[in-house]
Amino acid sequence: MIVNEFILKPYKQLLENGAAAYIAPSNIALVKYWGKKAHQIPANPSVSFTLDHCKTTTTLKFEKKTSEGFSFDVFLEGVLEEDFKPKIEQFFKRIEIYLPFLSAYHFVIETSNTFPHSSGIASSASGMSALALCLMQIEQQLNPNISKEFFNKKASFLARLGSGSACRSIEGDLIVWGTHANIEGSSDLVGVKYPYEVHQNFKNYRDTILLVDKGEKQVSSTVGHNLMHNHPFAEQRFQQAHSNMDALILIFKSGDLDAFISIVEREALTLHSMMMSSDPYFILMKPNTLEIINKIWTFRAQTGLHVCFTLDAGANVHVLFPQSEAIEIQEFIKTELAVHCQNGHFIEDKLGLGAQPIKI
Ligand code: DP6
Repeated sequence: MIVNEFILKPYKQLLENGAAAYIAPSNIALVKYWGKKAHQIPANPSVSFTLDHCKTTTTLKFEKKTSEGFSFDVFLEGVLEEDFKPKIEQFFKRIEIYLPFLSAYHFVIETSNTFPHSSGIASSASGMSALALCLMQIEQQLNPNISKEFFNKKASFLARLGSGSACRSIEGDLIVWGTHANIEGSSDLVGVKYPYEVHQNFKNYRDTILLVDKGEKQVSSTVGHNLMHNHPFAEQRFQQAHSNMDALILIFKSGDLDAFISIVEREALTLHSMMMSSDPYFILMKPNTLEIINKIWTFRAQTGLHVCFTLDAGANVHVLFPQSEAIEIQEFIKTELAVHCQNGHFIEDKLGLGAQPIKI
């Protein structure tokens, strides 16, 4: 599948060398992407909050080379990382048709995260979006006329080919990816800003990430997505995602936090129930994940405060709550939930506005 819109005319001339740098955020899905078709096309639409604090900073240096093929070195926090190479090599192969300069340069990719590498927080969304944005910055140096809109759209398109959820990490603060009949402009190819009214209740929404398990995941997202092929409940799940998106359109407008909680928690548990009912089946939640969920439910019932949880493909818990209730809920997290985190570690985050270029 080739999308001509993202192929520019041949460059007049290549630069000898140069650099690009970007800082890009992570995101947390409310309606989850789980299951995909060929070419990184999602099986259902998803919507996410862009985060503010959990970010990846990437610097990309490039220098003309004469040898064939791709050539790059990747450093994470200053240390050469051979493990990242296959994923980046695959990414370059997928996007070369859109960025023909890729094989003309040797690249040095230097990347670092604001969150600890071993935190169990997936860095693929922020990492791939930061890299895609750096590559777009090079394309912009070669084609100074491209618009900001095209820049972001192509960055999202490229990031998706690196890791699906990364296409939702270019802009903020509420991003939709995947075609949905009632969301104008939604697309399977790129993440777009949620186009309708959003109630004040969702402004500056908080996400405190409880680090329950900092280890490597036993099952990667890519393997998990593949298990949705021939999954007995796949079709119902994909339809459910469409109707949950419809429900959220009304909720974002009305500010109905109880309805929001019901959709978000159901999405998280459905994601994990898909994992538990695939063949082979697997469980990514840990005993502490369930301890935290139960404590959130008890606290919510006792106080009437609007705290809820969501999960990504791991054991860590994202605790979501409105800014207006932040003081009480942060206190609850510190006194009641932190004990279930590895070394008591959690990260306080909130809605963010998207990626930013860095001057170098
Ligand atoms: C559970 O984007 O990591 O976080 O496209 O294979 O790289 P690949 O998968 P990835 O999957 C993320 C899945 C999720 C849900 C979501 O973010 O929507």
